[in-house]
Amino acid sequence: MTGLRQISVGILGTGSAVPDVVLTNKQLEDMVETSDEWITSRTGIKERRIAKEDEAASDFAYKAAVEALKSANLKPEDIDLILVATITPDMLFPSTACIVQDRLGASEAAAFDLSAGCSGFVYALEVGCQMVRGGYKHVLVIGADVLSKVTDYEDRSTCVLFGDGAGACVLGEVEEGFGILATNLGADGSGANVLCLEAGGSRMPASEETVRSKKHFITMIGNEVFKFAVRIMGQSTLEVLKRANINPEQIRWFIPHQANIRIIQAAAQRLGLDDESVYVNVDRYGNTSAASIPIALDELVKMGKVEHGDNLLTVGFGAGLTWGSAIIRWQEDVK
Ligand code: UT7
Repeated sequence: MTGLRQISVGILGTGSAVPDVVLTNKQLEDMVETSDEWITSRTGIKERRIAKEDEAASDFAYKAAVEALKSANLKPEDIDLILVATITPDMLFPSTACIVQDRLGASEAAAFDLSAGCSGFVYALEVGCQMVRGGYKHVLVIGADVLSKVTDYEDRSTCVLFGDGAGACVLGEVEEGFGILATNLGADGSGANVLCLEAGGSRMPASEETVRSKKHFITMIGNEVFKFAVRIMGQSTLEVLKRANINPEQIRWFIPHQANIRIIQAAAQRLGLDDESVYVNVDRYGNTSAASIPIALDELVKMGKVEHGDNLLTVGFGAGLTWGSAIIRWQEDVK
């Protein structure tokens, strides 16, 4: 395919899926030295969903994808590309996108995974958008993570934060002036050690020693990520607003990555947004990594709270370190 078409690309349908099992702060009190009061006041999280032993990223990705296809009124064969943003793939290879492709029966679709931590969905949105401009008609973008599988439930500094799930959307052409108006992506690899999972890759393959020393679990310097998140969410959202030539007052819904209510409030404050335009579900799901933004978007859509012409501002940050923001002008009932 040569050249990019100058077309507007937007979201044709959304979907999401979370595990049935709920893990509450009260239950965590019995597992590590923590309290409901500490978790609630420091993070805003009350409970999170946890995958069962036999559930993996592709199970939630698949369910979210089925819903997104239904809401876009499309069949699996209509999809040309499947993109799964995840840092907890079913296995190192093949990609989780290929597993989802097979399960959906999306026989016409190419498929690959994308790794950008909790910013993964926004990264995938931009890649998917450019692929539609490049000639792919319908791109299925999924954010799916099951961080519970790589979390140490003896480490109170991380185990209270994360939850599992997936969110999906279908991208395609929309009317001029609608869809993804602007994006801003970035990375600072010098912060790689701040949030990482050391073992299991080619640098430190799995061994008895890596298992014994708990190197297959997430490690994080929480307050470093916190400071980075507050700074970068402000910077990235101001930049994307500038690129789209939009003022904060024109934003109907701010849909930030759901990691911590204090980070969300700081970002909203910097933009001068009132509580009523900020969508929060971190209390119910915790931090679901690449799934958090598409789950939030799907909830808003399902509640009928997103209307034709609404400007949505979304922003994520995470391992890498990475960040990404996007502005989407919603088009209802794309034909
Ligand atoms: O998507 C990106 C993924 N990561 C994030 O978004 C994380 C961003 N960071 C955060 O959300 C916050 O930094 C945390 C919620 C992780 C921690 O909050 P904080 O206000 O930065 O606390 P802190 O790390 O400075 O720790 C304060 C105290 C420490 O005790 P001392 O040293 O003051 O005695 C911790 O040991 O809180 C203690 N602590 C806990 N206490 C009860 C840490 N975790 C817990 C816990 N329960 N679960």
